[in-house]
Amino acid sequence: MSGQRIFILGGSGFVGSHLVRRLAADGHAVTVATRHAPSARSLSVVPGVSIRQCRPHDLDSLTASLEGHDLAINLVGILNERGFGGKGFRRAHVELVEKMIIGCDAARVRRFIQMSSINAGQGSSHYLQSRGQAEQLVLKAQTDGLLDTAIFRPSTIFGPDDSFLNRFASLLRISPLLPLARPEARFAPVYVGDVVEAFSRVIQAERLGGEVYELCGAEVWSLKELVVWLRDQLGLRRWVIGLPDWLGRLQGLAFDFVPGKPFSSDNYKSLLLDSVCSDNGFLRLDIQPWGMSQMAPSWLGEAGRQRRYQAYRSQAGRGDRGSR
Ligand SMILES: NC(=O)c1ccc[n+]([C@@H]2O[C@H](COP(=O)([O-])OP(=O)(O)OC[C@H]3O[C@@H](n4cnc5c(N)ncnc54)[C@H](OP(=O)(O)O)[C@@H]3O)[C@@H](O)[C@H]2O)c1
Repeated sequence: MSGQRIFILGGSGFVGSHLVRRLAADGHAVTVATRHAPSARSLSVVPGVSIRQCRPHDLDSLTASLEGHDLAINLVGILNERGFGGKGFRRAHVELVEKMIIGCDAARVRRFIQMSSINAGQGSSHYLQSRGQAEQLVLKAQTDGLLDTAIFRPSTIFGPDDSFLNRFASLLRISPLLPLARPEARFAPVYVGDVVEAFSRVIQAERLGGEVYELCGAEVWSLKELVVWLRDQLGLRRWVIGLPDWLGRLQGLAFDFVPGKPFSSDNYKSLLLDSVCSDNGFLRLDIQPWGMSQMAPSWLGEAGRQRRYQAYRSQAGRGDRGSR
């Protein structure tokens, strides 16, 4: 089904900016709903894309924004909340989905895709628990005949502009050593281009059919393997240390009180589960996913090369300032 009118909540973020461009290129008319229109400015110049300022927790504002669309996609997700008890996660993940479902019904939008996460509903973290509760709402809307739905559950997503590899890269650049909680936790990092391809194919289908797609890349890495590999790609000499479990848990508790929560006890709890697929949905969609070591060097390798070149110039007394 080409030429659909697609509404995307949370479309201004990392995955959204790739997805919006792809769906517009596929010939769909895309509305990006955002709490803050200037943050989606770069997408407003893409042909076929319009930006709509919206208060997603205000049902009237959300419903009005949903009017006139065939399909709604929810990409909203947070990794940490402001407080501690799970209320922030429930608000962003569960209450918002509840409002999306009611809003879609009121605006007669019949197709809905929920971006969730691998391990949704498992473990003890508020993040995963709230993800699972949101999925239950979506599945109920499907069985009640309210909406035709699909759910995506990716492992960690990587791309040139991701927050995963880039966050570790920033930490590696500023610190001589990097202590890692849950170093043996396993991931199957999935390339953002593959995630977007999966969305594109599912959206083409006549029916979404309540399908749930786990999405994993072609390679499985432990967290420590992954960070050591990243360090080497960046051409850095750093010490990556795996913390014993008690110390990793302590690290989470300590970072709970650091502004912006770069890590948290809730993140630690999520890491107790491996982020790997039991049934990789890419196969059902006839997509051969990339592995991180096959794809990421195309942008990381350049950063490493430039860094080694700069180091060489500095050693030779020809740093940027002295060279002119
Ligand atoms: N990136 C990954 O590795 C990964 C892995 C698994 C699952 N996912 C899921 O995939 C989805 C997209 O991920 P992403 O990396 O693109 O996320 P992102 O860059 O953080 O973007 C998410 C967008 O959601 C909106 N948003 C954030 N907090 C909100 C809140 N409290 N209430 C309402 N809107 C809010 C923001 O849009 P506005 O500011 O414009 O409103 C933001 O641009 C999320 O659901 C995420 O949990 C991502």
